[in-house]
Amino acid sequence: MIEVKDVTKIYKNGVVETRALNGVSFKVEKGEFVSIIGPSGSGKSTLMHILGALDVPTSGEYVLNNTSVKKMDEDKLAEIRNKEIGFVFQAYNLLARNSSIKNVSLPMMYGDVPKKERYERAKKALFGVDLEDKLQNTPNQLSGGQKQRVAIARALIMNPSIILADEPTGNLPTNQSSEIMDIFDELNKKGHTIIVITHEDEIAARTKRVITLVDGKIISDKKGKHERIEHAID
Ligand SMILES: Nc1ncnc2c1ncn2[C@@H]1O[C@H](COP(=O)(O)OP(=O)(O)OP(=O)(O)O)[C@@H](O)[C@H]1O
Ligand SMILES: [Mg+2]
Repeated sequence: MIEVKDVTKIYKNGVVETRALNGVSFKVEKGEFVSIIGPSGSGKSTLMHILGALDVPTSGEYVLNNTSVKKMDEDKLAEIRNKEIGFVFQAYNLLARNSSIKNVSLPMMYGDVPKKERYERAKKALFGVDLEDKLQNTPNQLSGGQKQRVAIARALIMNPSIILADEPTGNLPTNQSSEIMDIFDELNKKGHTIIVITHEDEIAARTKRVITLVDGKIISDKKGKHERIEHAID
């Protein structure tokens, strides 16, 4: 369902060029649970932005559900970002003045969900991440782990088949990180494809496949011990 073909990404700042991705190719099938690891500056977030259709490669191709992202117009891309893909960011990206329920409702407002349905769905999503007692709290009234769970509920509200998370546990103490990974585990069991960026080995160890990026290249792609080794290159 996700196919990255020889993708490069070069950022230009005046005369300075940074080659953030340098010929990256891999496939992710529906229902996989993948982590992307690598040192700071190795291109992880750049790759995630391309996978989420938030940015485009300088060269190479990104094919999502058998369609090259290059061939999609702005309307189609907006629909994909709203319905097909759920994002979770390290910095939560919640609206500070809005309650949990309002934050979770937001994608439904863009996604043409009728108003009376929105509240019930948002409530259900927040119940699903154990925040039934925090529906009306604003982000500053929540712990880091709770904020991240609101962000996850928001990412899930349109029932996306793909969940992309960039350092979702980066700011959290171990017990809260583990709870976030429990949620991802359950979602993966329900069939969602999950791709998580992390710099923590313990987090990567909880996924079924680990892709390692160094200097914008994949240096290893390993399936976990319970998975078939198919795409492994070392
Ligand atoms: N908008 C940008 N303009 C110019 N250079 C950029 C931009 N975004 C990222 N880069 C550069 O591209 C390279 C890859 O950055 P990226 O953010 O993808 O790394 P990362 O693996 O996510 O790092 P980290 O673990 O620190 O988050 C870095 O050298 C970075 O400085
Ligand atoms: Mg990053």
